Amino acid sequence: MNKFYVTTPIYYVNDFPHVGSAYTTIAADILTRWHKLKGDEVFFLTGTDEHGKKIQQIAEYEGKTPKEFVDEIAKSFQELWIKLNVSNDYFIRTTNPDHEKEVKRILQELYDKGFIYKGYYEAYYCVGCEQYLNESDLIDGCCPLHKKEPEVRKEEAYLFKLSEFQKELLDLIRQDNLQILPLTRKNEIVNFIKEGLRDISISRKKSEVYWGVELPFDTSHTCYVWVDAFWNYITGLKNKGVFDKFWPPDIQLMAKDIVRVHSTIWIALLLALKISIPKTIFVHGYFTVEGKKMSKSLGNVVDPNKIIEKYGVDAFRYYLFRETPFGEDGDFSEKALVNRYNSELADQLGNLVNRVLVLVEKNFDGYVPKPYGEDLKKLALSASKAVENSMEEFQFHNALNDIFYLVNESNKYINEKKPWEIRDRKELGGILYNLLETLRFIAILLFPFTPETSGKIFEQLGLERRFSFEDLEWGKLKPEAKIKRGKILFEKIKNTTNNTKLN
Ligand code: MSP
Repeated sequence: MNKFYVTTPIYYVNDFPHVGSAYTTIAADILTRWHKLKGDEVFFLTGTDEHGKKIQQIAEYEGKTPKEFVDEIAKSFQELWIKLNVSNDYFIRTTNPDHEKEVKRILQELYDKGFIYKGYYEAYYCVGCEQYLNESDLIDGCCPLHKKEPEVRKEEAYLFKLSEFQKELLDLIRQDNLQILPLTRKNEIVNFIKEGLRDISISRKKSEVYWGVELPFDTSHTCYVWVDAFWNYITGLKNKGVFDKFWPPDIQLMAKDIVRVHSTIWIALLLALKISIPKTIFVHGYFTVEGKKMSKSLGNVVDPNKIIEKYGVDAFRYYLFRETPFGEDGDFSEKALVNRYNSELADQLGNLVNRVLVLVEKNFDGYVPKPYGEDLKKLALSASKAVENSMEEFQFHNALNDIFYLVNESNKYINEKKPWEIRDRKELGGILYNLLETLRFIAILLFPFTPETSGKIFEQLGLERRFSFEDLEWGKLKPEAKIKRGKILFEKIKNTTNNTKLN
């Protein structure tokens, strides 16, 4: 049995979850479910990043203690992931005492081994990013993401000898010992590292940032929020007692905003401590909303809770991953979601399921007829193979295209065969068996993307909700079993101009 360890970034709790954080988390869930289908043993970690100046400032502004503040927001993440059917094995919070203890332990180890030294650090720092910026990063003197002038910092600090790892990092990435995907991102990172890596500050004066893990060797400083945050990937496993079983990560998902820090500081820390490094970092794009950058000030930050209430969980999951090739930038548009909902989920998939089950009820009293002929077998098997290939290459939108090709071919098959005109029971039974069996394949293949819908299809086919890749074998559906037609899977949305607020 293969192990598979997948992580998302841990999200800042300065704000409630939105389409962007949901996107990465659902992507990790899709991979998790895919690997579980294949019989792998999976650990899926997500969580929240709760220290640092940004959070300290907002809590102060809201008149709360940082702890009160982070508790409330961390809960909203956990609740949303449950609603979104996200099947994470653990939710790590960096304010967890076990995590803090482990961070102190490694800081001490890095210090004892001479990788941390006291000095001065001067650089541009964007509080919005909680990251240092190079002069060449700035556009008109501002952070390109937050459009604000960064702080210039010169302060006494403890530094980590990042520069010592420049050559080793370059070699690892160039030779794909640390695989960075897609390839364009790998090239960007290689060029970035080639420009030179400076030692980085890993501490802040406690008088400046008190909301952080104290340095064990100098308690007048707290640890830089990123060092603390990276360690979640390790403490998440350790807290659950499964570090030895699952380390290192098979894939770490993130958007392009944080790939630099991951492929340099994170990896260098592991190298310094002689801990094996992740196999792959997969970088996806950034989402806009109706063509505009998502931002609080524009008031267009989409709340996934609102979308789920309106359209259901699976429509949201499906839309996000059908619309945008994984790895590229995307846009969230309610209109586009409704279009896909109506034309694909309702008209193509929902309609197919309903048509087939009605025909079986009408002609065979709801009992699965005997197989006869194997008209759709080749198509179903080749769709499974195509989905497998697409998934192994992280081409989620292609996997969905492959599945919907099978859906549409099945609809065509009904139109061409016209079962309502067929009098021969054996032939009619054969056609319906082929369709039922294809529905079973479709439900299994859709499971990573739309688990609730797959469950409903299985239920309607009279099957237990258990999904496995091994069941993608033609002819497993037992004749004589009773189907249970249920409610229409996706009721069409008539009023597409209904613009309730989504934030
Ligand atoms: N706390 C750090 C990560 C530490 S990991 C050791 C952080 N947090 S964050 O809340 O800003 O989350 C960043 C991640 O959220 C992105 O890398 C991406 O996965 C996701 N997204 C946030 N906004 C997004 C979009 N607009 N579009 C797509 N993904 C987005 O950085």
